[in-house]
Amino acid sequence: MKLPASLNVLLLGGGGREHAFAWKIAQSKRLGKLFIAPGNAGTASIGMNVDLNPTNFGSLKQFIITNSINLVVVGPEEPLVKGVWNFIHEDEQIHHVPVIGPSMEGARLEGSKDFAKAFMVRHSIPTAAYKSFSKATIDEAYTFIDTLKPPYVLKADGLAAGKGVVILDSADAAKAELAEMLGGKFGAAGNTVVIEEFLSGIECSVFVATDGENYKVLPVAKDYKRIGEGDTGLNTGGMGAVSPVPFADEVFMEKVRTTIIEPTIKGLAEEKIVYRGFIFIGLMNVAGTPYVIEYNVRMGDPETEAVLPRIESDIVDLFEGMAFGSLDKTELTISPKTAATVVCVAEGYPGSYRKGDEISGLDKLSKESTVFHAGTAGKAGKICTNGGRVLAVTSLGDSIENAVSKSFDTIEQIEYAGKYYRRDIGKDLM
Ligand code: AMP
Ligand code: GLY
Repeated sequence: MKLPASLNVLLLGGGGREHAFAWKIAQSKRLGKLFIAPGNAGTASIGMNVDLNPTNFGSLKQFIITNSINLVVVGPEEPLVKGVWNFIHEDEQIHHVPVIGPSMEGARLEGSKDFAKAFMVRHSIPTAAYKSFSKATIDEAYTFIDTLKPPYVLKADGLAAGKGVVILDSADAAKAELAEMLGGKFGAAGNTVVIEEFLSGIECSVFVATDGENYKVLPVAKDYKRIGEGDTGLNTGGMGAVSPVPFADEVFMEKVRTTIIEPTIKGLAEEKIVYRGFIFIGLMNVAGTPYVIEYNVRMGDPETEAVLPRIESDIVDLFEGMAFGSLDKTELTISPKTAATVVCVAEGYPGSYRKGDEISGLDKLSKESTVFHAGTAGKAGKICTNGGRVLAVTSLGDSIENAVSKSFDTIEQIEYAGKYYRRDIGKDLM
């Protein structure tokens, strides 16, 4: 089975990751029409934004039929966790339309940390030792905390908008946090809490495209999660990313392939979980040994903005291999250049932040960088800030220094009230 020679694509999502996907899809020789739901001011310049909610499956169905959509690409996790794959796959009228993303069962790797940990244990995939607790077992949890050494890692089981992981230095603070989580701090997402061993090391993000049997490893990236320089302050969605990651060398990646990627794909197949999509493995390099910190069932943001510009081959061919089980025959070529993405955020982010400020300078930028929109919206012919993360600026270079300095130069040509970005992206790897 193949996708048609010219196809119409519906891309779900509206952040920097989706602008990067839209940009890459638009380069395909095979693209007919590209629709982005809901998209942002950046995707509007590449395809057609449509005012659809990616979790309103009934309206997605109507859109797919009316616009002769041949492929659905899912950016964020929420529609996947809510079962968009199953909905489309099981509908008589649209079941022929492939969806890039796992089934609802597969999406539990991200949707439930307890499920993900148990999956890793079943398939002997290296991860931090853990136990899960609920309100009924809170006393056992307190006892378990007393057996661990600080720091203590507590994770709400369900999706908590990236805020569900809390790391604490004292047992008393960990117990208090646990009580709050089980008491509803994160709503139902915290009905179960995973408590795990703290792993010390340096993190990276490994992205795998799979058809359920074969796989391709995409460029490895490192993201910068905290708001402040030197990785200080509050956690954010991500303040920048660099690819490749120097410590993720051939020796390290061979361990990742044999101890993590292959057991993961084999485990999914053994458990009869349909998975034709991206697996994002958050890894900790503990003295040369990779451990899984988390699975996500989608690409990372802002990592995608650094990863896709390094892929030279046609991404529609990759989607085709993922959708039809022919990834072993798909060609994937990767640029040896370094990509550096620097995210510009709104004043106040990740707390409550400014919105609606006009962004100037976007129309006369040098060609050295690609500016992906994250939180932007068009308003009366102007482009305005419309989210915490506003823009993700990516440059390719011969070194991290070279690539980040191009991104900084581009950012200096862009203005909006309260613009902030980290000037130390990639510094720890130089
Ligand atoms: P997550 O939301 O799962 O990405 O976790 C957020 C961050 O918490 C991760 O990126 C790590 O920096 C940190 N983290 C999570 N689990 C552990 C662990 N077991 N040991 C050390 N750090 C962790
Ligand atoms: N950059 C981390 C994430 O997308 O979850």
